[in-house]
Formats: sequence, C-alpha cells, structure tokens
Amino acid sequence: WDGSYAEVRSPICSAAQGDGVPQPLLIGRTPLMDEAAALEALDAAVQAYGQGSGDWPSMSVANRIEHVEQFLAEMRNHREAVVKLLMWEIGKTRKDACKEFDRTCDYINDTIHELKVLDRRSSRFEIVGGVVAQTRRLPVGVALCMGPFNYPLNETFTTLIPALIMGNTVVFKPAKYGVLLIGPLMDAFRKSFPPGVINIIFGRGRDTVGPLMESGKVDMFAFIGTHRGASALKQMHPKPHRLKAVLGLDANNPAIVLPDADFELAVSECISGALSFNGQRCTALKLLFVHDSLADQFVSKLSDAVNELVAGMPWEQDVSLTPLPEPGKIGFLRELVDDAIAKGASVVNECGGEVNGTYFHPAVLYPVTAEMRIYHEEQFGPVIPVAAFSDEQEVIEHVRDSSFGQQLSIFGSDSDTVGRLIDLLANQVGRINLNAQCQRGPDTLPFNGRKDSAEGTLSVSDALRVFSIRTTVATKSS
Ligand code: G3H
Repeated sequence: WDGSYAEVRSPICSAAQGDGVPQPLLIGRTPLMDEAAALEALDAAVQAYGQGSGDWPSMSVANRIEHVEQFLAEMRNHREAVVKLLMWEIGKTRKDACKEFDRTCDYINDTIHELKVLDRRSSRFEIVGGVVAQTRRLPVGVALCMGPFNYPLNETFTTLIPALIMGNTVVFKPAKYGVLLIGPLMDAFRKSFPPGVINIIFGRGRDTVGPLMESGKVDMFAFIGTHRGASALKQMHPKPHRLKAVLGLDANNPAIVLPDADFELAVSECISGALSFNGQRCTALKLLFVHDSLADQFVSKLSDAVNELVAGMPWEQDVSLTPLPEPGKIGFLRELVDDAIAKGASVVNECGGEVNGTYFHPAVLYPVTAEMRIYHEEQFGPVIPVAAFSDEQEVIEHVRDSSFGQQLSIFGSDSDTVGRLIDLLANQVGRINLNAQCQRGPDTLPFNGRKDSAEGTLSVSDALRVFSIRTTVATKSS
C-alpha cells in the first residue's frame, strides 16, 4: 500500500458556501489499497488457514466460540461510536442505527448458541445401515466477505461471524459507504482473533477484489450487492465451479393489496415497507399492486401518510426521512420518475420527487404500468410506484416473469383467496408476508430468494451450514 487515502463524505451537507451550493461534509478517510496490498491480505488468510491445518481451522469449536465472545464483548464498548458513524456516513436515523447495532449483537449471540447445539449433534456417532459414522462440520477455506452500504454492520456480520466461527479465515471488504465504523471495531478484531484470521481491505473493487478472485485462492464468496457485480466477480475466479457462494442480491418485492384488505393496516405497512431507511433496503416494498376498487382511495391515503413523515437529520427526534449517501442515486431516481411521468403516471403527493442537496423527497407514482422502467427496475430509494389491477392473474404473471424473487407481501382477509395466491406464488420467492411488509428479520428465519435475488440461504443456523462442509468418517459396524 502506497499510503494514499480515499475521502469519505457524509450525505449531511455543509451550510451553503459562497456559490450557494451546500457540499457533503468530509468526515473521514480510508486507505486506498492497491492490488499488492489486497494480495498481501489474502496471503495472510491463506497462511492462517494452512490448507485446513492452521491453528484457527483446527482449533476446537469451544475455543473459537471464546474468541467470538471476546469480540462481542469488545464490540459492545463501541456502540455509541458505531451509531454516530451510521448516522453521519449513511444517514441512518439514531433509532435505526441503535437497532442495527443491537440486532447484530443478538445475531452473534444466537450464532454462538446455535453452534453449541450443532456441535453437540455433530460429535455424536450414528449406526446406520451397518455403518458407524461420525459427521463433522469443517470449514470451507478462505472466505471473501463483502458487505453492503445499507446495513454495513448487520448484513456484513451475518456472513463474517459465521465464516469465522466455523473456522474459515477471512478477507473482508466493506462497502464504499458505511466503512468508517470499521475504525472503532478494528481494535476489537485485533484483540479477539489471531493474526491472519481476519484481514480487512479497503479501496476500489477493481484494484482489490478483482485480483483476489483472479488468484484462485478464494474458496468461499459471501456477497451482498447486485447480481451483476456478483456474477462478474465469480467469473474472474479461474475455477468458478470450485467457488462456494452465498449471495444476497437485487430484489423488486411487490405488495398485493386485495379488495378485502384491512385498509389502514395495508397503508401503514406499505409506507413503512417502502420508506424505512428511505427505501434503501433490499427487502423494501418496491411496487404496490392495489385492486382497482380501492386504488384511488389507497393512493390518496398513502400520499397523506407520506406528508406526515418528518424529514431531517438522522439524530433528530421523530425523523424518518434523511439524506441519501450514494452520490448517483438522486439522478437515477429522477430518471425513473421522469420515465414514468412521460409514460402517463403522476407524482401524486405534495413535493414528491423534490430534491434539496442530497435529500430526495419520497414520490408516490400512480398509475404505474408495465411500460415504465420502475415496474421492472429496482429503485432502492424513496419512490413508491402504485399499479392498479383488476385481475389477480396480472400480478401473478408479473411475479412469475420478474427476474427477481426475494419476497412479496399479500394484504387481504379472505383465506381462500390468500391461500390460493400463496400456493401459486410460494415457488417464486423466498418469503411471503401476510398482512405485513417484507423484511429480513427476525434473523433466525431463512433469508434467501430465487432467480437473480439470491444464492444460498442465510439465517443464524443456515449460515453456519453455508460456511462449512459436512465430512463423514465411517466404518463398518461389527
Ligand atoms: O437490505 C436488507 C436488510 O437485511 C434488511 O433487513 O428487512 O430486517 O430490515 P430488514
């Protein structure tokens, strides 16, 4: 590493300068590593793994658990620093930032508990079909873990911690934003894990992650991001078929609001599902299909509900709408909104789509149709497209034709209709939410998807399985 740094800017802007344009504040810097530095980190992980005979992979499960417990205890000391960085770097509200921190600690605790259960089960001998067998869970090898900007702690640690605790060694690359919180945690990593077990790299993906993949020394790839990014990186591996992967990718989760839905409940779940953290969640509701008998009324109620939301700084009381951290996002959202308007939709809420520096006011778009980009593309931001439907078949076809398949929500009260929709759509997604918004949590539930939305399943227990391979030692019983 040649000692150069990348600047990290906040979505929070300075007061207007001489030219009248407020500028995102400079809040930190991270090392801008090059290929050589990334490969050095990888080599450290390869050495520590020692083809499975390094101290870490061959350590007892109980000992590895102690290291992770130590890390958790150290990490808890940094709650306030991490919460502040989540507010300043990605604009997460204090309430959501605290929730993310606490949820991550719970996840680590649950992982430790689950591994103890799994390990007890794995150490048993079984006699089956004339064979005495013991099946152990062993690590996969060297894991490359890459986290997203929107849940830089929770999403990242739901791969990082299972990877480590199962005995893999790790190279970890944080996302471009949501990276500064690694600073206060660096010491916790250093104190809790032996050298080479966890290696953190910073810098441009093409300079760092590309060469790691091309080296062929990565055995396991855990990635939360776009399916295009994931496929491109996987293909750089000289033997992609040998790369075990767990991927959380794009989604375009729809809500289906049936004529007999509990109206108030559907509106409030749709608002929160579409706008929590300004819609920057892979699990956000991204397209609302509302039966045409109530669509106009629904849209008007939705607009009123958006008007009641408070915009402001992440640390202010009652604020839920905040500035967006990705510099290119506002232009992209404007493109989607303008495309929909050009094809016949309107922004129906007051100030919808208005921009102020890094802030984009949520836009409710109606009526949205299949000709519009927003019907098919993931906005990952505060735009709520509403499409009216008269026949459920239209929605069923949309879900089946979509290249995404993470989750969907159904709002309705007739159990026959709801049951029929579940039967027809359950094989298209990873989770169906009844009379509730889409969400990942609780983290003990499977988190996955179909088509371009995911590969593999993450939950507390699934992740332990994902980051290990069952190996059986068997002999004939006498
Ligand atoms: O972006 C995806 C996050 O894992 C969302 O988690 O739906 O429980 O807020 P959540």
